Amino acid sequence: MKVAITYNLKKKDTTKPADYFSECDSLDTINNITNALKSKGHCVEAIDVEYPRLFSYFSKHRVDMVFNIAEGKVGKFRESEVPAVLDYLKIPYTGSDTFSLALALNKALTKKILKAEGIPTPNFQLFVKGNEKLNPELKFPLIVKPNCEGSAKGINKNNVVHNKEELFLRVKEIIGQYSQEALVEEFIEGKELTVGILENGKTRVLPILEIDFANCQKSGEYFYSWRMKEFQGNKEMGLEPSFFCPARLDKEIEKKVIDVALRTHRALGCLDISRTDIRLDKFNVPYVLEINPLPGLDPKESNFPIMAYAAGMKYEDLIEAIILSASERTKLN
Ligand SMILES: Nc1ncnc2c1ncn2[C@@H]1O[C@H](COP(=O)(O)OP(=O)(O)OP(=O)(O)O)[C@@H](O)[C@H]1O
Ligand SMILES: [Mg+2]
Repeated sequence: MKVAITYNLKKKDTTKPADYFSECDSLDTINNITNALKSKGHCVEAIDVEYPRLFSYFSKHRVDMVFNIAEGKVGKFRESEVPAVLDYLKIPYTGSDTFSLALALNKALTKKILKAEGIPTPNFQLFVKGNEKLNPELKFPLIVKPNCEGSAKGINKNNVVHNKEELFLRVKEIIGQYSQEALVEEFIEGKELTVGILENGKTRVLPILEIDFANCQKSGEYFYSWRMKEFQGNKEMGLEPSFFCPARLDKEIEKKVIDVALRTHRALGCLDISRTDIRLDKFNVPYVLEINPLPGLDPKESNFPIMAYAAGMKYEDLIEAIILSASERTKLN
C-alpha cells in the first residue's frame, strides 16, 4: 500500500512554554513507524502537517491510506483538522474520525456522555470564567485540569487542591495559561490503570497496564503529572513509576475494567485504536478519567506499545494491525 504518515513534529523552541510541544511526536517515533510500515512491504512517506499546504499536497499525491498521528497545534478541534481535510478529499485514514477526535479532546463533554451511559467517571464541574460558585456536592481533594489538553499539559502536583482558596487560585491560573475552561473533578485515590483497545478484525482489549507511583516519594507526585510523563524514569527527580502489564487485578475487577473501557471506546465512536485512562477507588470501582483516540506510539516510551508487547505483538505488528483495521473498514464503506 502507498501510505502517508501525518504528524506534528516535536521541536526545541525556548521561546515557547515548556509543555508547548508535549503532544507532538519525536523524529524517532516517526522513523520507527516508517520502518515498521516498510518492513510490512508498504511504500511510505512522512508529512509534517505544520506546513499549511496539506490540502494541495494530498490533491496532487494520491495515497491508499494515511497513518494519522497528528495531534494538531491549537484550538479545540486541532486533532480533527487533518481528518477533516482527508474526509473532504476522500482519502482513508487510520484511527478515529473528525467527530470522535473533537469529542474525546473535550473532557467535560466526554464525561457527560459517560454519565449518560452509566459509566463511572469522577464527579465534576466546568469553570468557564473562574468565578462560578463551587458545586457543594463536590468532595475535596479535587483536581484541576485544562478541559481540552493531553499529555498531562498543565497538570502538576499543585493541581490537586484541598480547599476553596487553592481551588480558585489554580482554576484561574489554568484558564489564563491555557485560554480555555478548567475542569474540576473529584480526585480518585487509588490504582492507576490504562486500557488499550485495538480493533483487528474483532475488537481486542490488550493486557491492562498498571502504573504504580509508590517509588516517587522524592517528587511526591503520585499520579501521571506532566513532569512524570516528560521526565519518566528520572530517579534523581523521583519520577520513576513502576509498570505492571498485565495489571495486578483480581479477575472480577479486571472484567469490570475491561467492560468500562470497551463501553467508553464505543460510546465515543472510536475506531481502530484507543487508550482509556482509569483509576480504581477504594471500593475498586473503575472511574474513567478520559479516552485517548491518538495514544502515543513511541516504541520505548509510550504506554500503548507496552500493552501490545505484553500481548505478544512486535512493534511492527501493532502498526500493521492499525493499518489493517482501517483498510478493512474502508472496504466496507
Ligand atoms: N480525577 C482524577 N483522580 C485521580 N487522578 C487523576 C484524576 N484526573 C487526572 N488524574 C491524574 O492525572 C493524569 C493525567 O490526567 P488526564 O489523563 O485526564 O490528562 P491528559 O493530559 O489527557 O493525559 P494524557 O497524557 O493521557 O493525554 C492521570 O493519568 C492521573 O494520574
Ligand atoms: Mg490521560
